[in-house]
Amino acid sequence: MKILVLNGPNINMLGIREPTIYGKENYASLIAKIQNYANERGIELKILQSNHEGVLVDAIQESYKKVDGIVFNPAAYTHTSVALLDALKAVGTPTVEVHISDVSKREDFRQISYVREACIATISGHGTDGYLEAIDLLVEHKKSKK
Ligand code: DQA
Repeated sequence: MKILVLNGPNINMLGIREPTIYGKENYASLIAKIQNYANERGIELKILQSNHEGVLVDAIQESYKKVDGIVFNPAAYTHTSVALLDALKAVGTPTVEVHISDVSKREDFRQISYVREACIATISGHGTDGYLEAIDLLVEHKKSKK
């Protein structure tokens, strides 16, 4: 099983940015945590973070038919990007939307998620554990399709 883990803008600033909202764990330790979790389960990961919408679109397109699932925290682009929604629809890869914070309890402008329509599930407000839950969901999803 192969999974693409995609993180959008400012996720590289974890640990520094608004720790009361996003926690004190930094990006490197988030990646180490996800990587260990995947290694223990024999799952191959491709991990990418970008502050640029087009780079995220490219990564989704390039993953076409190469991965079994996508764990995606589009960060602020969640609330603005039709291009990311269209990219996910184009490849049709099972995708789980992840947010570290509980976006449902935040500002009005965070209540819209364009990508959600193309995702099999959304995990929001479970901190960085949400990424691990997303991996589990993709594994279960793959099993259910066999
Ligand atoms: C976020 C929530 C978004 O609203 C915000 O723009 C982010 C991070 C989260 O992980 O909680 O950058 O996706």
